[in-house]
Formats: sequence, structure tokens, C-alpha cells
Amino acid sequence: MAYTDFQDFLTQLERAGELKKISREVDPVLEITEIADRVMKRDGGGTALLFEHPTGSTMPVAINTFGSRKRMSMALGVADFEDIASEIESLLQPDIPQGLWAAAREMLPKLAMLAKCPPKREKGPGRCQEVVLTGDDIDLNKFPILKCWPQDGGRYITLPLVFTHDPVTGKRNVGMYRVQVYDRNTVGMHWQMHKVGAEHARLRAERNEPIDVAIVLGGDPALTYSATAPLPPGIDEMLFAGFLRKKPVKLVSATSVDLEVPEDAEIVIEGKVDPVERRLEGPFGDHTGYYSLADMYPVVHITAITHRRKPVYPATIVGRPPMEDGWLGKATERLFLPLLRLTLPEIRDINLPVEGIFHNVALVSIKKRYPGHAFKVMHALWGLGQMMFTKMIFIFDETVNVQDVKECMWRMGNNIDPERDMCVVRGPVDVLDHASRAVGYGSKIGFDCTHKLAGEGFTREWPDVIEMSEEIRKQVDSYWHELGI
Ligand SMILES: Cc1cc2nc3c(=O)[nH]c(=O)nc-3n(C[C@H](O)[C@H](O)[C@H](O)COP(=O)(O)O)c2cc1C
Repeated sequence: MAYTDFQDFLTQLERAGELKKISREVDPVLEITEIADRVMKRDGGGTALLFEHPTGSTMPVAINTFGSRKRMSMALGVADFEDIASEIESLLQPDIPQGLWAAAREMLPKLAMLAKCPPKREKGPGRCQEVVLTGDDIDLNKFPILKCWPQDGGRYITLPLVFTHDPVTGKRNVGMYRVQVYDRNTVGMHWQMHKVGAEHARLRAERNEPIDVAIVLGGDPALTYSATAPLPPGIDEMLFAGFLRKKPVKLVSATSVDLEVPEDAEIVIEGKVDPVERRLEGPFGDHTGYYSLADMYPVVHITAITHRRKPVYPATIVGRPPMEDGWLGKATERLFLPLLRLTLPEIRDINLPVEGIFHNVALVSIKKRYPGHAFKVMHALWGLGQMMFTKMIFIFDETVNVQDVKECMWRMGNNIDPERDMCVVRGPVDVLDHASRAVGYGSKIGFDCTHKLAGEGFTREWPDVIEMSEEIRKQVDSYWHELGI
């Protein structure tokens, strides 16, 4: 189901009992964080919150809107986001039925649905442009932008969809990169070196030209999720969002930069990034639960801000897990498993535990077929898009339930001879990794926790796992109720 906009999503959340409105005045400087953090840490992720009267602004702040399995699923318009993974799986590996007519009957609806997804360009102005601010009217101080944590370098826009174009191919990219407010019309852009927005800016800088950006807040929540999804460069996030919401995303021309923006957005900040200018950005209380250190990042000079007549300001906070972003990450883990399996069909399942901040720990089960198979899978994962950031990969046999971290700990401890079964490599690591020797460069480790084969030099017998026989289990089942235990 597609939402008409972010406020429609909030209405549906409220109807489902998933949104709590807070009418008292609350300060976006630290206080909203303290409240939201307590709610996000509740079992299951608490409710979404709408702060109707943030101090210093007329715009309500919505937070934790993606912060549970149910709300993440609602954001993508499904009962459970695992359903989308099954849909992707069936699209990628269609079982072509016997006979032409049967094939057509099965495949045509799927293809027709995909054909309906590309974004649609509409004649503006869009709903996101009901108010247009330029020149001296541009003033970010009027927006309820959060200062999240005490040592943060300033206020941060935390749920932004950053639109850019590849200057060579003209293709669009939309990524979620935090934005630090410097003053009323200047912000810092934290696109990390490995991300597509940063590459677009580098390509522009090679021509000594500024790059246009649009920092978008709101729109159908499928758009916001898509900005976080690790799609390969060149794959349009707005097409992906259209696939998720089963309806094209409507786009209109931005007012002062050469970009298209979602018609249904709440707020759009348009601007230009100078090819050489850098300014200290950070520190920022980050996904890792630590502050990411201040560093030099590009600066956006705002050329216009457009917004709804009565916008709601979407926000999140990141910090020590579990947090709202854990659910955005879990959706990615599930939705991208079928895509991983296109390259690595031996993968059965993957778990990126929230405590591992997604890039620190991956638990992977495989159908092991040959000597060294686990190592092959590790190396392949380190070569696949943003999986390159995974600091620790643990590979298990297909019988292991990698969603059960306790089982993984038990198997891992028993099944490895560390010297033989580990593999340390060097390469790119997440920019947020504060332990690595350099920003974005360090080492990663993989552990083969599978059973060992003779072809791997293992000459001993591999023991069976202890299990009661089915016959005895059934026998005890038959009189269990008599025991009163
Ligand atoms: C809440 C949230 C905040 C994020 N902040 C940043 C950020 O500041 N910089 C960054 O490079 N990636 C950040 N990310 C991760 C990117 O959004 C993610 O890697 C995305 O796939 C990047 O898109 P791209 O591949 O189009 O560059 C954030 C993700 C989330 C969920």
C-alpha cells in the first residue's frame, strides 16, 4: 500500500496504536533524544512519537517512525517485511512454468507491476513547494533540528534523503547522509568516502564544478528506507521505492538546483557544494554508541528551502543499540538476502545482529560443498558493495540457525581451531570504525565455524551433536503430562 505522504503514514501509525502524540513543549536540544532513547530501548521498540510543540519551532517533530518490526513493515506497506524478501526472491528466480500460456499467466503480472514502478515526472509546483524560501528568508533556525547528544558538534538533520546526479551518466542517487547545521543557510554534508554521493561530488570536483544537492525530509516512508538501502551505484532509489510502494514516486523539479525531488516531501533544502571547500564536521553521537570524531567534510550553501504549508519534521537519533535505525538495517538484511544469493547461492541465511552495528558482525550459514568453501564466501562478501565493511564474518553450516546468537556462540566456540580457521584481510572499513589504523582503512577477520573436511587437512573424526533419539522423545511425550513438571 502506498502512502500519499509522510503525514498519511503518521495517521496510519496512530490508527494502529503505533504513535504517541506529546503535547507539552519539549526542547529539540537533547531533551527529545532523552525521551526517544528511552522509548526506542523498550522491548520491541516502543511507539513512534510526535512532539507537537518543540521549543523554538512551529513544526512538530516525528521520531521512531521506523523503530519496530511492525512500523518498519507498515512503512513498506506490508504485514511483514519478510514478505518483500519472498517477492524479490520470486522475481529474481522465477520458476518458469511449463507451456507458453502458463508462463505468460505467471510472469505478466510481475512484469506489469515492475513496469509501473519508474518515477514519474510531474509538472510543479509540488506539495513540497507550497512555501518557497530564498535569500534572507532562508533560516534553518526556524526548524526543530535536533542536537542529539551532549558532545555533538551542533544540530543535525538526522533523517535526510540526499539527492545528487552523476555528472557523467546523469543518473540519480539518493543516500542518507547526516547534515550538520553551521548557520541559517550553511550545512555540512557527511557523505562518507565510500558512498555514492561522495563519488558524485568527486566527479564534479574533477571538472572544478560545484555539485547540486537536494536534502529531502519526508515523503512516503518507502522513499526514506530506500535512501538507506545499499543499492549498487546507478540503480535509482526512486525506482526501488516505486517497486516497494507498488506505485511510481512523483517527482517535481527543484526550484533552484538542477534536480528532481519527491512531490510529496515535507521539506526540501536545495543547495550547492563547492568542489574544494571543507569544514570541520562532528563530533556526532553515532550508530556505534560512540561519538564519531570530527573531520573535514564538504559544505552545502543553501540556495532555497521549500516546504509544505504545515510540515512535520521527520527525525531519528542514533546511539548505543538498540535504536530505530536497527529496524532499517534489519529490513535491508532481509530484502537483500535474495540478491546476495544471486551471487552466492550457497548462502542459506544471514544475521547482522543489531549489537554488531550491522558492519561489525555477520553470522552466515552456508551449504558447505568443498574444502575452503567458508573462506570463499567470506572473500565474496568482502567484495560485495557495502558488505566490504563487515569487520567480523562467521560462517556456519546450513543446519545452524544464525538468527539464534546463542546457538552461534556455542557452535563457534566448539568448531574452530583459531589458527587454522581464521582469515585476516586488509581493506576498506567503515568510516565510523574508531579502532582501525586509519579512517576507512583497516583489517577484517573471518572465522570458518563449519564442520571440517579431510580435504582441509582434517584427519580426525568430526563428532555428532548430542541429540535424543526420536523414539525416546515420543515415548516421553506420551506420558509427560503425568509427571507434573
Ligand atoms: C539513520 C542513518 C544515518 C546515516 N548516516 C550516514 C552518514 O551520515 N553518512 C554516510 O555516509 N552514511 C550514512 N548512513 C548509511 C547510508 O545511508 C547507507 O550506507 C546508504 O546505503 C548510502 O547510500 P549510497 O550507497 O547511495 O551512498 C546512514 C544510515 C542511516 C540509517
